[in-house]
Amino acid sequence: MITDESVREVIDSARIEDVVGDFVNLRRRGNNYSGLCPFHNEKTPSFNVNPARNIYKCFGCGVGGDPVKFLMELEQLSFPDAIRWIAAKYNLQLEEREVSPEVREELQERDSLIITNDFARSYFGDQLHRTEEGKSIGLSYFKQRGFLRETMDTFGLGYAPAARDGLLRAATAAGHKEEQLEKLGLIRNGRDFFYDRVMFTIHNLAGKPIAFAGRVLRKDVKAPKYVNSPESEIYHKSDVLYGMHQARQAVRKLDNVYMVEGYTDVISLHQNGVKNVVATSGTSLTTGQAKLVKRFTENVTLLYDGDKAGIKAALRGVDVLLTADLNVRVVVLPEGQDPDSYMQAVGSTKFEEYLEEQRKDFLFFKADLLLEEAGEDVSRRTAAIRDIGATLALVEDPLKRAAYLQQFSGRLGIQEQLLVNLVNKAIADRRAQSRKDQEREARRRQRSDRQAPHPPTSPTPSEEDDWDNLREPGWVNETDEPAEPVAMTAPVDEPATASDAEMDLGHGYQEKFLLYLLVQHGHKSYDDATSTSVATYLTANVADLLGDFDRPRYREIVHLVMAHLREHGRPPDASWYGSHPDADVRKLAVEAVTSPYTYSPNWQLKYGLRLSQKAPEENHRLAAEIFLRIFRMEKIERKCKENAAEISRLEVAGDLAKLRTHLRVQMKLDEMRMALAKELGTVVLSR
Ligand code: CTP
Ligand code: MN
Repeated sequence: MITDESVREVIDSARIEDVVGDFVNLRRRGNNYSGLCPFHNEKTPSFNVNPARNIYKCFGCGVGGDPVKFLMELEQLSFPDAIRWIAAKYNLQLEEREVSPEVREELQERDSLIITNDFARSYFGDQLHRTEEGKSIGLSYFKQRGFLRETMDTFGLGYAPAARDGLLRAATAAGHKEEQLEKLGLIRNGRDFFYDRVMFTIHNLAGKPIAFAGRVLRKDVKAPKYVNSPESEIYHKSDVLYGMHQARQAVRKLDNVYMVEGYTDVISLHQNGVKNVVATSGTSLTTGQAKLVKRFTENVTLLYDGDKAGIKAALRGVDVLLTADLNVRVVVLPEGQDPDSYMQAVGSTKFEEYLEEQRKDFLFFKADLLLEEAGEDVSRRTAAIRDIGATLALVEDPLKRAAYLQQFSGRLGIQEQLLVNLVNKAIADRRAQSRKDQEREARRRQRSDRQAPHPPTSPTPSEEDDWDNLREPGWVNETDEPAEPVAMTAPVDEPATASDAEMDLGHGYQEKFLLYLLVQHGHKSYDDATSTSVATYLTANVADLLGDFDRPRYREIVHLVMAHLREHGRPPDASWYGSHPDADVRKLAVEAVTSPYTYSPNWQLKYGLRLSQKAPEENHRLAAEIFLRIFRMEKIERKCKENAAEISRLEVAGDLAKLRTHLRVQMKLDEMRMALAKELGTVVLSR
């Protein structure tokens, strides 16, 4: 244990700008510093460091505190470990009280278990590197797999010798209790549990050894390929992802985590520079693991073997990730390869290129796969579509879900309304189920309350994860209650502007967004040289599409703006909108300044847009340009679709004259689509 005096000294020496500076590029701004926040994703710095007060604060996500808190939160360190980290940085000698056998007993059970595991880890390591048996069997195996010494140390690789008493003897001689060893599963029935295997250490987030896995080398033995430590006070399998400790910084920085199945896949990828990788260890994903991931990123890429089993595995357990509102993508490796073998085969550059090219949104991946399997079989197709509907219902974010719905209806070739009904049905089913679960849980709680009238009032601080579940009284835990069903039609009492639910669905929302842009930026200059206003630029570029507006009211208001431009030779200003005789225009004027700017989430998905909400304020020209391109693209794509449908109809009807006209229109539309796509830098899918 570190003495109080030492802790004081460390805290007094830690400079916030030094500590933060090790993780964040800081720029001086007057007396303070600023940089990109390491706790959330951002493009413009809102993370501030105040040396005078020795604190940091992010105005984007709200985090803040002193140097110790920074380390604890960013690096997921315990308090003593944060103190040790700072001491090492400043070369401070820490005074630690001797750990006598009595004190060891006083120490938290968890800590002592970790100490014992740590002993086992170094024992296995020594066996690997320092004994003849270990070197000739274990080390040569790892070397043959291409693992470097540094990698072996990073991942705590080791060797458990064939004799079954080595660890027991060494550990008890070093003062570790047999009882502890048993609790950790290192000893069973008075003998070493792990023997004749190469060893993998499983670390917790802070890098402490909490469990082990041993892999057989001999091919002839019937023993299972891997044996793993049992659950213990320090090892809850379902909350652990193998390699998270080694991956976490890269995961945060790259804002994406690769999930693979095997320990060796993690190690191999890490050694080859793909460090944002963790393993599920061949089992289904759990809620605890999804939560763990979410502390570092919202983006998960599943990386699976290119065989049937691998692909099936990719489908399994993904529900958990979707329910946790993570964005899930999938990459299937070439037939017969796993991540490790593929990396070894092609090297890191090719490997990463492959991932970049092949990754597919999970929902599309699943849909394509199921439909391909179903083929033309009607009942199997129906089952597949129902399955996809159920998966879609897991997406909690209503905007995200609406965006998927829209794209799926095209992909599955079924009416959006049908799909919406399916999804709503699945949501309703889940709701009913969750209500039942809650009622059952409430009854159970009532019963146990009667038995134990004084439930503990506060959580034990050591049970870290329980903090995540804490809510203020009366709060609804979001995950308990499935998402709101999607509404397809706007409430009738709101004829002029679209309801929120309707706004999910694309065109109406974007037409309204156009008006927001007009109210907020219309009067500003788009091009000084030709004194073109933003309003002129926007209206001129939508004029040919006004007939395609979904909301006649929005079209009419655009016409009003165009009339003003013609009559006055200048754009209307905010007060024109605000005091307009038409109530809908006035309403828009208010909304435009009160509602947050958001490009449609469909757009973000489809065009990879990541526009910060601040952008339109700061750069109305760029905002108008990007908006217009996509707005036009969406309208033209829809026209294309409608025209294509008309073409097939005319083909059947055999109306050649009309057909020729429509084919010409199609060519024209395709040209426009290609030109816009080029500007947008997206790929146009041929249909
Ligand atoms: N696994 C396990 N117990 C087994 C088999 C597999 O716990 N009996 C888990 C391990 O976490 C393993 C993962 O499932 O890493 C994937 O299994 P597999 O692909 O067979 O193992 P690899 O780690 O890839 O081993 P290797 O490359 O050495 O064959
Ligand atoms: Mn493997």
